[in-house]
Amino acid sequence: MATPSQGDAGKGARSAEADRAPTGSPSPSAGTADADGQPLLRLRGIGKRFGPVQALIDINLDVPAGKVTALVGDNGAGKSTLVKSIAGIWQPSSGEIIWNGKRVHLHSPRDATALGIATVYQDLALADNLDIVQNMMLGHEVVRHGLLDEITMEKTAKATLADLAVTTVRSVRQVVGSLSGGQRQAVAVAKAVMQEAQLVIMDEPTAALGVSQTELVLSLITRLAERGPAVLVISHNLNDVFRVADRIAVLYLGRLAAVGPAAEFDPASVVDLMTTGTSSRLMNGNGENVTLRGSGSEG
Ligand SMILES: Nc1ncnc2c1ncn2[C@@H]1O[C@H](COP(=O)(O)OP(=O)(O)OP(=O)(O)O)[C@@H](O)[C@H]1O
Ligand SMILES: [Mg+2]
Repeated sequence: MATPSQGDAGKGARSAEADRAPTGSPSPSAGTADADGQPLLRLRGIGKRFGPVQALIDINLDVPAGKVTALVGDNGAGKSTLVKSIAGIWQPSSGEIIWNGKRVHLHSPRDATALGIATVYQDLALADNLDIVQNMMLGHEVVRHGLLDEITMEKTAKATLADLAVTTVRSVRQVVGSLSGGQRQAVAVAKAVMQEAQLVIMDEPTAALGVSQTELVLSLITRLAERGPAVLVISHNLNDVFRVADRIAVLYLGRLAAVGPAAEFDPASVVDLMTTGTSSRLMNGNGENVTLRGSGSEG
């Protein structure tokens, strides 16, 4: 009960935390806003119900550009549901999605793509029988005089991979089915970059990867955010989370248990939050920028 915001559990938690300042006055070190004081994506009071199951309850979350936000939580906490609501797969039952300061309604994944939201899944969304260039340019093919401009497309794909310092791919004409998991992930990220996504969402990007492939993907995530887009990463792996995250958001039973700069958390406090919805450890340290939502008391 010692952090400033946890005492606001209940009524106060809905109105008084730094993340919710409408413009201009974000929490000084929370780093959620760009120069206009406006985070790229704001979720306000998002709820999602599947019949009797309330999968998400009153989620207030800012996702700033140029930063990696890690979304963590135990199985069934609501991570995928939240991400699917941002990706246009589900429509929230309540609440608002605010994109660049404007309220938006995402009726389909197409709507999300049109805004500049790209979702990268581990094994989906790439065509195994096509090569790297074909995959990256799929739906965005360059045509000249009625023919595919293979040279330009290959150059573009190569340049994007080089920009992201993806060096382990031997040939961009290799079929994607023959790539390792980490290389596939790299191609999927490069595709999102090429489509100039402003928000790249990654659901468990390292779940199926070995040590060196995980390294490749983690460094890619860091470089991606440095280029400007917001990155929202779901992960179960706290090592990965602490390697890449600028901000951490913890879901517990459909509620946002805590959100704040990664530096304000440690693995033990995140585990507490994931498993009980609260943590006394944060309060012993300098957790003043972490917003605890008091999920335990609202049960
Ligand atoms: N399509 C659906 N229909 C009914 N209930 C659903 C549906 N999708 C998710 N749920 C329920 O919503 C809750 C949150 O599920 P979600 O898949 O978002 O969890 P998660 O945090 O992604 O878990 P995991 O770590 O296991 O992937 C769960 O109780 C789940 O059973
Ligand atoms: Mg999931």
